[in-house]
Amino acid sequence: MKTLKKGLLIAVEGIDGSGKSVLCTHLKDRLSQKYDLVVTKEPGGTMLGKGLRETLLAKDVPVCQKAEFLLFATDRAQHFAQVITPALEAGKIVISDRMADSSLVYQGYGRNLDISVINTVNNWAMNDRQPDLVFYLKITAQEAYKRMRHRNIPLNSFEKEIAFMHKLTDGFDTLVAPRPNVVTLDALAETEQVADQAFAVLKKLIEQNQ
Ligand code: TYD
Repeated sequence: MKTLKKGLLIAVEGIDGSGKSVLCTHLKDRLSQKYDLVVTKEPGGTMLGKGLRETLLAKDVPVCQKAEFLLFATDRAQHFAQVITPALEAGKIVISDRMADSSLVYQGYGRNLDISVINTVNNWAMNDRQPDLVFYLKITAQEAYKRMRHRNIPLNSFEKEIAFMHKLTDGFDTLVAPRPNVVTLDALAETEQVADQAFAVLKKLIEQNQ
């Protein structure tokens, strides 16, 4: 199993229904035979995080917006301390289904929390380690809504859900996509084709870091 000089940190980002977990599985299938690889997720990549994820997703306990962000940040800090940083130090490739940009977009853009506070807390939780590469799966709010409905995910009313998703896609397009470490992928393309594109970029990056 190959390791790399410094390890590589990859995040997969996008709104719900954009195909993040499918892309993570494809990348895992293509890389895991050759490379020492950790595929993980936020929220819920650690034991502490699994509890936080349940609390965050169950929505049966009132959680204010600041507290919600701090719970995602708590999950992130533990994830970095327990999973991500040790793996990178061992020269592994780490692929995370969501990371800091989800907070920036969902809590910052979606819920109007202060972006600079989110950036500061994110960086603190991550010990200033930014992802080497972010795959942003771009999809329209309408298409994501359709996919989520097919998956029987509990949804708010169409108008409410679509309005929030529009905010999120705007957030990804303005805050995330323009950064140089971000590769935007067309989430409407065939999953194999999306995986091929992502794999080609990742392969190049791995070669540069061997
Ligand atoms: P996710 O694990 O992608 O959902 P799924 O259950 O479909 O696998 O994410 C769970 C939810 O958490 C998703 O709606 C996005 C949200 N989220 C934030 O709002 N902020 C964050 O920082 C993160 C990591 C997730």
